[in-house]
Amino acid sequence: MNAAVRAVVRTALALGLRAFGIRRAYEGLVRGEISELGARDVGGIIQRGGTILQTARFPGFAEPEAQQEALRQLEAKGVDALVAIGGDGTMRGAAALHQLGLAVIGIPASIDNDVHGTDISIGADTALNTIVAAIDKLRDTASSHQRAFIVETMGRRCGHLALMSGIVSGAEMIMIPEREAAPEDVADAVRGAHARGKTHAIIVVSEGAQLGANALKERLDGMSTGFDFRVTILGHVQRGGSPGAWDRLLAARLGVAAVERLHRGESGVMVGLRGREIAATELAEVASRQRPADLEYYRMARMLAT
Ligand code: F6P
Repeated sequence: MNAAVRAVVRTALALGLRAFGIRRAYEGLVRGEISELGARDVGGIIQRGGTILQTARFPGFAEPEAQQEALRQLEAKGVDALVAIGGDGTMRGAAALHQLGLAVIGIPASIDNDVHGTDISIGADTALNTIVAAIDKLRDTASSHQRAFIVETMGRRCGHLALMSGIVSGAEMIMIPEREAAPEDVADAVRGAHARGKTHAIIVVSEGAQLGANALKERLDGMSTGFDFRVTILGHVQRGGSPGAWDRLLAARLGVAAVERLHRGESGVMVGLRGREIAATELAEVASRQRPADLEYYRMARMLAT
């Protein structure tokens, strides 16, 4: 996110515009936490996780009064266009402000990678690498003790992180909301791995799957599989840390594209990555849909886990 903030500010300055940062997202916006940012204010942040602007969960922004107050605050500061960086909630707020007449462009940022209109959102690749590094370490101890590890990743409604990390970590089984599997299927997969001489087994469970990691362990403990199970819930470590090169580049490209498009008079869209290109999708469409995990990867994962 910092790489995107930096790109937005510096592109605006390069175009002869002024740039302002809004602290704590929509909550800060309605409270008028808006201040001007110069090139130096966004120096030395490209390698930092989180966001220097900070953020907030603010369900109250769905209320029309809050949206009107946001417009008043922007007008009072002389701000006439907004770049909104965030996940699906951010895009819903951006769509509402666009409806009310503000020039707005969205930039998708969500480790869950559930934002419609882009192949990938800022943060998802870095989070994936964090998960994979953790699973590699767990596999060391799993192998030494001949254990099976159930690893829970984030992803409230989308199994992207679990699915991708499961494939590249060689998981025996992946549990995601888009493709539910029964505990008996997991037991079969783990039992089969044991019978084939594997010294460990990895099961990756998405936070949004029907059975969470602990509930799954309870069910598996009662079945005979040859392995002893342990649970690791990765939690918020997935949302921090220095962004990888790929995420920094994506954030820079999207930040530049958002400001250049606003400058050309475009509004009401989210910029995202489609294939290798930056492409725009109407905010109204982005706000009304959700990007599911790609089930072709699920098929691949099952085939490769032998
Ligand atoms: O950013 C999305 C997400 O990481 C989800 O995967 C997770 O369910 C949620 O955030 C956790 O949110 P909070 O930090 O507000 O508990």
